[in-house]
Amino acid sequence: QATYLKDYLPPAYRVTHTELTFDLEPSATRVKARLHVERHPEREPDEKETGLPLELAGEQLKLISVAIDGQVLEADEFTVDDKTLTVATVPERFLLDTEVEIDPDANTALEGLYRSNGMFCTQCEPEGFRRITFYPDRPDVMATFSTTVIGDRDALPVLLSNGNPVERGELPNNRHFVTWEDPHPKPSYLFALVAGSLEKVEDHYTTMSGREVLLQIWVEAENLDKTEHAMASLKRSMQWDEETYGREYDLDRFMIVAVNDFNMGAMENKGLNIFNSAAVLTHPQTANDATFQRVEGIVAHEYFHNWSGNRVTCRDWFQLSLKEGFTVFRDQTFSADVNSAPVKRIEDVSFFRTAQFAEDAGPTAHPIRPDHYIEISNFYTLTIYEKGAEVVRMLRHLLGWEDFRRGSDLYFERFDGQAVTIEDFVACMAEVSGLDLDQFLRWYSQSGTPEIDAHGEYDYATCEYRLRLSQRTPATPGQTAKLPLHIPVRLGLVGTKSGHDLSLTLSGKDGESEKLGKDAVIHLREAEQTFVFTDVEEAPVPSLLRGFSAPVKLRYPYSREELAFLLTHDSDGFNRWDAGQRLTLLALDDLIAAHRNGVEKVMDSRLIEAYRSLLNEPGDDKAVLAEMLTLPSEAYIAEQQPTVDVDAIHAAREFVRQSLAYQLRDDFLAVYRDNLSDEPYAPTPEQIAQRRLKNVALAYLMSIETEEAVSLTQQQLEQSANMTDVRAALTLLAHSDRTDLAEPALKAFGEKWAHDPLVMDQWFTIQVTRPQADVLERVRFLMGHPLFSMKNPNKVRALIGAFAQNRVNFHRLDGEGYKLLADVVIELNRLNPEIAARIITPLTRWQRFEDERQALMKAELERIRAEKLSPNVYEMVERALADA
Ligand code: ARG
Ligand code: ZN
Repeated sequence: QATYLKDYLPPAYRVTHTELTFDLEPSATRVKARLHVERHPEREPDEKETGLPLELAGEQLKLISVAIDGQVLEADEFTVDDKTLTVATVPERFLLDTEVEIDPDANTALEGLYRSNGMFCTQCEPEGFRRITFYPDRPDVMATFSTTVIGDRDALPVLLSNGNPVERGELPNNRHFVTWEDPHPKPSYLFALVAGSLEKVEDHYTTMSGREVLLQIWVEAENLDKTEHAMASLKRSMQWDEETYGREYDLDRFMIVAVNDFNMGAMENKGLNIFNSAAVLTHPQTANDATFQRVEGIVAHEYFHNWSGNRVTCRDWFQLSLKEGFTVFRDQTFSADVNSAPVKRIEDVSFFRTAQFAEDAGPTAHPIRPDHYIEISNFYTLTIYEKGAEVVRMLRHLLGWEDFRRGSDLYFERFDGQAVTIEDFVACMAEVSGLDLDQFLRWYSQSGTPEIDAHGEYDYATCEYRLRLSQRTPATPGQTAKLPLHIPVRLGLVGTKSGHDLSLTLSGKDGESEKLGKDAVIHLREAEQTFVFTDVEEAPVPSLLRGFSAPVKLRYPYSREELAFLLTHDSDGFNRWDAGQRLTLLALDDLIAAHRNGVEKVMDSRLIEAYRSLLNEPGDDKAVLAEMLTLPSEAYIAEQQPTVDVDAIHAAREFVRQSLAYQLRDDFLAVYRDNLSDEPYAPTPEQIAQRRLKNVALAYLMSIETEEAVSLTQQQLEQSANMTDVRAALTLLAHSDRTDLAEPALKAFGEKWAHDPLVMDQWFTIQVTRPQADVLERVRFLMGHPLFSMKNPNKVRALIGAFAQNRVNFHRLDGEGYKLLADVVIELNRLNPEIAARIITPLTRWQRFEDERQALMKAELERIRAEKLSPNVYEMVERALADA
């Protein structure tokens, strides 16, 4: 039941125009579709084929009737099974009319048309449209759409679809309708419909060519005060895409709708983006700074898809990264431009190296362009999205911004209105730059994380610095032989005497040398390559892979002294941070070993001194400082270990945190005090940095639970008017051993916010991420809470997903954590297979743990395998157990 890239064929028929009529009823909605169909010019039947059958995808549809050119088909003139409607012979060009009945209320999978809080809404990407009507539901079939939505006037006063409203009117039985027209041809996955009792906030944007665009955000009435930030983010995104990529919006209106039950973050449907309410609603009192920034990024991401995704779309789902990798790269750059650029990069890279590296190292590793899948919904992954973005970023490095922008212009111009491939995109980049990108294309087909070993040697006599780089990519499931990749390595050589970047002169094979400036990109293409820099006046410490210029693991045998040197002298903010991370990891390694061997832990004094100087000579960028003071997460530390010892990692990290807190107590206290503020809340980069720094300092102080820290935390909890500070304080209290204070605080918070589902999500998460040993029991208890629901993906993520990130408790040695997750997967497999197949991820990583835990995890996977599984969960479990 797998689909293969190599089997791609253009569709036999295409649809030029699609007319839809929805008669909305909660459990019996009628959908009439009139498709203007014609034979695809690229798929004329060859000699063997006598006329191609018409095959339309359809799932969970009750077929009422089907007609061709007005003639109703008899039962023997077509076949229909649970996946396909087939008509053996059809004319070259015809009108197809179908009518089906669907049941939105029974749709707990949240794919296709479903109801959320009484509101009708859709999610069609990737293959949800086939749950709405019979259709060639593949992205290379692009049609203009005309959609009429009919509903009850009182229950569904607002009726929305893609494009522009062209007609509205009243109907008998208290019903009304609106007809929408979308003039831009689009694949079915970009279709959207929303109907409900919604309120709107409106604004306007004038595009660079003078087009007036109406902007609307549609929400439930009680959320009207939570849309300001999303609207501001939208306008900033529109302007940024004009200035940066020359891309202008192309319809008279742009709508965003907030929906409570949504599998993902948001969806870029043409002119009608549908958002998980968690990815769009913000208010200073209900959302923290991280949420404000996430909303800004997601609004931008979906908006940017209008070009990278909608105007130019994917030929097939193997090309998913064509739109997602490019669009993530675009939204990352946008966020960097409007916030602190180094911090944005630090956040993205630390997430990437934790989560995507783990995916690459696990049984579900896959290339950015997979060559087969069972269930495409399982491929909305960190590899497709984030690694895809890193690869686009490398292209930007290789070409330089100007050529990259010319390549992007060419791509949008050449392929506007088409469904294309990743090669098409890369070919534009090659064409404008003259670069040979053939080897580079391997990044798309080869899975796994490349590892680079670097060695440097300085020759005092000749003033030469020789840098030897060797690359290798470890085998991944289904892909054992790996080829060398084309890797841009951005670097500088920092003089040990001067503390400054030295001028780089690279000597070539033929004795010619090339001047590169002080910060340069070298191209690693071979398995092993030596780069010789001449005229290096002093012994340097190399600063390698600046800005994380390629998604690889880079090893260099830095001494702790060299790392401490880079931490203060590297001109690249990202690498300064990274030097600190490496230094901390070295200290953690010793402590992890000490913990395992049962010897006394001793704190590395160099680390304390490094932190002391950070705290005492704070540069002007508070945002970077806050990142520098943040210890690597347990998950990231685990990534560095050959076998993950959950308890040793936790103990070692706590030891570092507490040692730093004891030794630098006064410094942390001073930072905390210096960054208190009475300014009214604004999500500005300056304020966000200040709050972050203050709360990082408070977290250190609370790790040793001094009376003073506890009372500062309590004060902050009681006196702050913004969720950033309230949540930080509540989390610290709840995660401390002061249960006497934590329990009443949690209770009060829960009562105060019981009416707000997004705040209650945070309340669930805070409780199940506690380090205390009774957390699992609390998870089971909270699963019975009246506000928890297995049908709401946000609740599942807030409670179960968050618990699975609570490493010491999820990985309990009695296996109860695994059992709980497996129980949830089994239940969700029936309700919502897509969410089930995501939430299972931590169990699939069993190979990383020691035998005892491996056995427990595998046993739970086997228990899941014994169920009647959805394709989604089946594929994940099979891949997870393939090597077992
Ligand atoms: N294209 C959407 C976005 O990035 C995500 C849609 C995911 N859909 C899904 N069923 N997994 O931005
Ligand atoms: Zn996207």
